[in-house]
Amino acid sequence: MSDFSDIRISALDAVEKSISLKMLEDARVALLGKSGSITAELKKMGALPPEQRKEFGQAVNSLKEEIAAALDAKKATMEETELSARLTSETLDITLAPRPETQGSIHPVTQVIEEMTAIFGAMGFSVAEGPEIEDDFHNFTALNIPANHPARQMHDTFYFPEKPDGTRNLLRTHTSPVQIRWMQHHQPPYRFIAPGRVYRCDSDMTHAPMFHQIEALVIDKSITMAHLKGCLTQMVRSFFGVEDVPLRFRPSFFPFTEPSAEVDIGCSWENGELKIGAGKSWLEIGGCGMVHPNVLKAVNLDPAQWQGFAFGMGIERMAMLKYGIPDVRPFFESDARWLAHYSFAPFDIPSLVGGLAR
Ligand code: PHE
Repeated sequence: MSDFSDIRISALDAVEKSISLKMLEDARVALLGKSGSITAELKKMGALPPEQRKEFGQAVNSLKEEIAAALDAKKATMEETELSARLTSETLDITLAPRPETQGSIHPVTQVIEEMTAIFGAMGFSVAEGPEIEDDFHNFTALNIPANHPARQMHDTFYFPEKPDGTRNLLRTHTSPVQIRWMQHHQPPYRFIAPGRVYRCDSDMTHAPMFHQIEALVIDKSITMAHLKGCLTQMVRSFFGVEDVPLRFRPSFFPFTEPSAEVDIGCSWENGELKIGAGKSWLEIGGCGMVHPNVLKAVNLDPAQWQGFAFGMGIERMAMLKYGIPDVRPFFESDARWLAHYSFAPFDIPSLVGGLAR
């Protein structure tokens, strides 16, 4: 008959005398670990004659359970004691002034995109997006700019290396390819804007090699140039918050629109400061026109049935005019001083009224 009373007493004693969680853990390992003393007893069972095994097994297992329970109970009390000690010794002074945290802010480009989205959203436009790496077809050919057409020189294009099939991808030079992608995959009528990054080999005070445009496309059965003028006028007035801004549509040329126009807004200079509104001067803000029948044909739409207008504007330019920013280059230099001066608080952005186009 096995008697575990000595082992039991010294085991319970070891548990009881533990004064830290570390000591308690050491005791657990010494008793119940792989080479612990109680584990060693358990191992002896295999060597016993079968008739003794049952009794021995029950005794050693109940000892093991008792010790395990004692270890758990001790651990729980110790943790509780430790927590209440911490709660009494540590205090939190909620009257201390908070440390100032730096807060992120909204870049003027993001701000203008949000403002435009809200204005066009209110006019029922949704938002479309397209890839920045484009192919020749979407950026040029489908927009009625065939190979070797002189209009290609209007765009100083960044090309990727030639692919085995002889074609080259490029960084889109304008947001107009989004028109093509959208029309290829959706049935008219359309009414959307497409804001996004565009790229041209160009850099000076008013040109950056990467900048942003916002495109708009409206196609339906009876859209006229009057709608184009009305829409742009409404947009400019809401954007600048000036009721009497005159707009001037100057005849121009884009291969993908006919007729085409450049859009100017009225302004004046007072003591070297620009004022948007009726005045002596004009500022160009973008290009527009009635979508060329060849563009509609390129996406299998019947120009006798569908027609509409498109326009494209530079976002940095709109931000510079509205917020008095003189140079385009710092927009992308991430200078914290410039950002602190020209960026916006994050909480007063108009919402995406029209939602994302599907
Ligand atoms: N894609 C033209 C550009 O980048 C702008 C434009 C868009 C003109 C739509 C007419 C219609 O210069």
